[in-house]
Amino acid sequence: MRKLPVLAAPRLTLRPFLLSDAPVVQRLAGQRAVADTTLTIPHPYGDGMAEAWIATHEGEWTRHEGATLAISEPELGLVGAIHLRIELAQRRAELGYWIGVPFWNRGFATEATRTVIDFGFSRLSLQRIYAHHMVRNPASGRVMEKAGMQREGVLRRHFYRWGIPEDVAIWGVLVEPSV
Ligand SMILES: CC(C)(COP(=O)(O)OP(=O)(O)OC[C@H]1O[C@@H](n2cnc3c(N)ncnc32)[C@H](O)[C@@H]1OP(=O)(O)O)[C@@H](O)C(=O)NCCC(=O)NCCS
Repeated sequence: MRKLPVLAAPRLTLRPFLLSDAPVVQRLAGQRAVADTTLTIPHPYGDGMAEAWIATHEGEWTRHEGATLAISEPELGLVGAIHLRIELAQRRAELGYWIGVPFWNRGFATEATRTVIDFGFSRLSLQRIYAHHMVRNPASGRVMEKAGMQREGVLRRHFYRWGIPEDVAIWGVLVEPSV
């Protein structure tokens, strides 16, 4: 695939970001509640940062290093983002996502996650997709559970966020159920 794909989910479209999405990304990802339980979203989220982030997506895809897609709902527009950090040599990818606070608890992250897992297995020939979440972020664990991932363990004080060590749970799903 030369270009980042467009993926259809039951209620959502997962599509490449456009530079014109930048103001909405800045508003949604700029909320402290969204940045809080991620490692990579900067805070405060300044002018130009969304544009710079969006500009990295095509190269990341072309180098087979990752797929970042906008999560879009027909009436609401852009509601969040989902990302696979791809390690082709290992046939695995790490999943990450965020949803804007006004759109939480409507099943959007779960739907996007199921769609991206299916894409990773069927189109990228991955054999494992995994993800981490902070133990204090059970909603994300619930997303992973609903999307068919298995909890594989807890990595104690594995990451620092806001200067504080965080215990993180690791979840994974394999292309075939293990026997
Ligand atoms: C985590 C996040 C992506 C979830 O997105 P979402 O679209 O609200 O997720 P869904 O609606 O698909 O599912 C959320 C589930 O968590 C549950 N949940 C919400 N808050 C919860 C809490 N405090 N404790 C336990 N479960 C909780 C919801 O009830 C729902 O489960 P249910 O369908 O069984 O009722 C969103 O909260 C977010 O973007 N947070 C900030 C960024 C982040 O943490 N990203 C993930 C990093 S690993």
